[in-house]
Amino acid sequence: MAVTKVINFLMRKLPNWVVYIILVLPAVYLTFALLGNQLGPDPIRTYQHKVGEFGLKLIIIGLFITPLRDLFNINFFKFRRCIGLMAFLYVCLHFLSYLVLDQSLNFNEVWKDIVKRPYITFGMISAGIMLFLSLTSNNLSVKILGPIYWKRLHQLVYLVSLGAVTHFLLLTKAWQIEPMIYFIILIGLLGYRALKAYQKRILNKKRNIS
Ligand code: HEM
Repeated sequence: MAVTKVINFLMRKLPNWVVYIILVLPAVYLTFALLGNQLGPDPIRTYQHKVGEFGLKLIIIGLFITPLRDLFNINFFKFRRCIGLMAFLYVCLHFLSYLVLDQSLNFNEVWKDIVKRPYITFGMISAGIMLFLSLTSNNLSVKILGPIYWKRLHQLVYLVSLGAVTHFLLLTKAWQIEPMIYFIILIGLLGYRALKAYQKRILNKKRNIS
């Protein structure tokens, strides 16, 4: 299709560094707005929510890359690492705003929160796995671990996305529409992956028989 060809051509031409800059801009803007006290009546909460949402959106966008290629032949693969790392940047800012501005670096209180509040537990698990995935998002790690094991390890991103959406679902007292939308999209994306893996297994079995 002509449209797909044009999109893929443009994506091939677009350098990775441009995408890094585009994705980092909201973080820079929000951080300066926070420092300049320009985020409304509750700047810390606004900042925390906005960077948290950016992080979650980027995690979900990253999960769209494979189905977009499989189903529509649109190839954003080149930007996968960039999107993952930028998602981690927003999650770091989100966590730091909680650690420094909410808890004033009181690690005792943070630990109490992790144990007492399930939404913090899920957030911490997701952020912890993301740290590990970000540290191994480089060519050297692919070389050391081998591409198959590395790929398997990076499938932990599904766990990250589930933990992050659960974090969002749990922190709202009443059922709210926004986290529910993320949840439904995520179920669709993970369902697609599960179906693909199942089809692959059946195909391999058939191949082994014949
Ligand atoms: C993958 C990791 C994470 C993602 C994607 C994420 C995302 C989010 C999102 C989308 C929100 C709601 C924003 C809104 O209401 O508009 C939120 C709220 C929040 N998150 Fe996270 N989060 C993560 C990890 C964490 C961690 C590790 C902590 C702290 C240990 C944390 C603490 C909070 C707090 C305190 C709130 C606000 C709760 C409130 O307003 O009462 N998050 N997060």
